[in-house]
Amino acid sequence: MVTPENSMKWQPLEPQPGQLDFRAADALVAFAQAHDQRIRGHTLVWHNQLPPWLVPTSATLDDAALAALLQQHIAAEVGHFRGAVYAWDVVNEPFNDDGSWRPSLWYTRLGRDYVAQALSWAHAADPDAKLYINDYNIEALGPKSDALYALVAELQARGVPLDGVGVQAHLASQYPFPATLEANLQRFADLGLDVAITEADVRLPLPADAAALAQQAAYFGRLGRACASQPRCVSFSVWGFTDAHSWVPGTFAGQGAATPFDASLQPKPAYAALQAAFAAGAPVQTP
Ligand code: G3I
Repeated sequence: MVTPENSMKWQPLEPQPGQLDFRAADALVAFAQAHDQRIRGHTLVWHNQLPPWLVPTSATLDDAALAALLQQHIAAEVGHFRGAVYAWDVVNEPFNDDGSWRPSLWYTRLGRDYVAQALSWAHAADPDAKLYINDYNIEALGPKSDALYALVAELQARGVPLDGVGVQAHLASQYPFPATLEANLQRFADLGLDVAITEADVRLPLPADAAALAQQAAYFGRLGRACASQPRCVSFSVWGFTDAHSWVPGTFAGQGAATPFDASLQPKPAYAALQAAFAAGAPVQTP
């Protein structure tokens, strides 16, 4: 399974209003299909990587017209990839770390119901696609995952189409492993939702020594086991697979080496740890 790191975000897809450029995303879809891989679509509604024209344009629109613009975006993108994208991160990162709503353009202008509307519009555009809300710092039990839990329970009660919760899992060796990860995945599973680890990486202070790589392997291994041992955890995705290409050094100065392969494409201890986790947790195959 592959996730486009950037090419399905609104900014690269619609650089000028009304001029959709699907070339990069189509190339990724073609690659995935040629290699018998599924595609997780990422992401339809986010506060970040919006086209530069969108915010100024939004200021000229009333709220209904802004909602219509968002609907049009979702319908166009999900419609374009209908049948090719297996699951969508429909809404990305709606909450602040304290569990309050992130004051994005969408929340500020459309209110909290933008989430339900976006899910409904995505469902209308591809009724077979699995629909997710995706966020970071929701690995453990806590205010942010509590806010998401309350939201998804409410959406379910209202009959809003929603299939799963995406747990990004951007971890860092300087922080303890999120010890309540397994319990947290379980409570979402108990709602009847799928869960997915969607953007796993474990960043390290640079240069990474053997002890750091071993700690990273332990973190990746536990992440992998938590997913493999949870029947409703349907996928595990890393955010970049080689240290040669990772968002981390550009965002966190002095940190990096966050993926399972080094910059020379050699597997790191984290790779072996993931392999072991999936082997141990794999369902029993009947011959
Ligand atoms: O494509 C443009 C290029 O045309 C331009 O010349 C260049 C100049 O800066 O920028 C390029 O865009 C960059 C883009 O990545 C593609 O490389 C953006 O500046 C850069 O900000 C962007 O970063 C991405 C980041 O999301 C944006 O917030 C990272 O690659 C991507 O890994 C990261 O991914 C996010 C997930 O979508 C959501 N969860 C967190 C995760 C990590 O931040």
